[in-house]
Amino acid sequence: MKILSIETSCDDTAITIMEVKGKIKNALHGGQASFKILADSVDSQIKIHAGYGGVFPMLAKREHIKNLPILLEKVLKKSGLEKNKKITRRGGGPVDMIAVTYGPGLEPSLWTGIVFAKELAKKWNVPLIPVNHMEGHILSVYGKNKRSFKIPKINFPIISLLVSGGHTELILTKEWLKYEIIGHTLDDAAGEAFDKVARMMDIPYPGGPQISKLAEQERNSGHRVSTIEIKLPRPMMYSKNFDFSFSGLKTAVLYLIRRIGKLDEKTKMQIAMEFENAVVETLIYKTKKALEKYDAKTLIVAGGVSANKHLVKEINKSLKSKCEILFPGKGLSGDNAIMIGIAGYMQYINNKGKVPNPATIKAIGNLKLK
Ligand code: KG4
Ligand code: ZN
Repeated sequence: MKILSIETSCDDTAITIMEVKGKIKNALHGGQASFKILADSVDSQIKIHAGYGGVFPMLAKREHIKNLPILLEKVLKKSGLEKNKKITRRGGGPVDMIAVTYGPGLEPSLWTGIVFAKELAKKWNVPLIPVNHMEGHILSVYGKNKRSFKIPKINFPIISLLVSGGHTELILTKEWLKYEIIGHTLDDAAGEAFDKVARMMDIPYPGGPQISKLAEQERNSGHRVSTIEIKLPRPMMYSKNFDFSFSGLKTAVLYLIRRIGKLDEKTKMQIAMEFENAVVETLIYKTKKALEKYDAKTLIVAGGVSANKHLVKEINKSLKSKCEILFPGKGLSGDNAIMIGIAGYMQYINNKGKVPNPATIKAIGNLKLK
């Protein structure tokens, strides 16, 4: 089965064509289906939005509309399926199914992908599967790389720590494709806090990776003595639930910067390290509690922030003895269309091929996992 998947929920336009082979019926139970990425194309709008300090929705929409047909041509060409583009009288096109993100995200951006996908699905007469972007992030851990991979056997219950620019959630999964949100951020998402702290230090959007680099430099520098005390709070550490809050931490950084005045490179590195430590310690503390409470056998860590090296290292160090830990493969932690293809396929299999009427598919900006 060949799947074309489309992702336009935020500031990346992405289209993938993949082929799934194997005993499809057992795909949900692991080891049976294998995925091969035939073509993957992404157009990142980071440079366009950097000047606005964040994603500017109307600009994102305009870019998606411009990019989608270009990326489609690219993936059809690269996958060698271009010649199948013409439709015979019986219908049918280059792929057997289309998957598209329908939420959560920026609604104007989501609509561009949905409208494009609907037109293609109609033209090629193939099913259209709406995919929850966050389910895509969770299932992105199947993607070990951007070439080919198999669904591994996964033990339940699973706790997923989803950390992205828009979300920070702890999710309990007792059986595939069923989700119970047991904790979430009460204000800023972890990635958003990284980006906002970066902005306070004049680092352009998205500052998460750059803050992480500065923190790493400081960790490797042997911590030369500083005249300023740089200590930040660990928010919600001792609250009894699984919720997070990062806005107080962000404000603490703001006050710290105001107190210091002009920031030199060394001070920026120190703030970055202390901030990253505070976020990572908080995430791990709550995740550990959740793993223990639900006696989880697997931990999935996904979303843009799961690319953070310090988070990966500390999670492996402190939670490895508790359960198996899965991260997305290289290049699959941020937004991508490969994860949307995987999730679309899994939904298709789980619903035994029953597909929604395309007319009922609409963008849902605040879509929740359930
Ligand atoms: O999942 P994602 O690509 O988009 C959303 O769905 O939000 O996540 C993007 C977020 C941004 O806030 C970005 O700064 C953050 O992930 N991020 C990181 C790192 N790489 C990306 N944050 C901290 N450390 C990183 N290495
Ligand atoms: Zn995302």
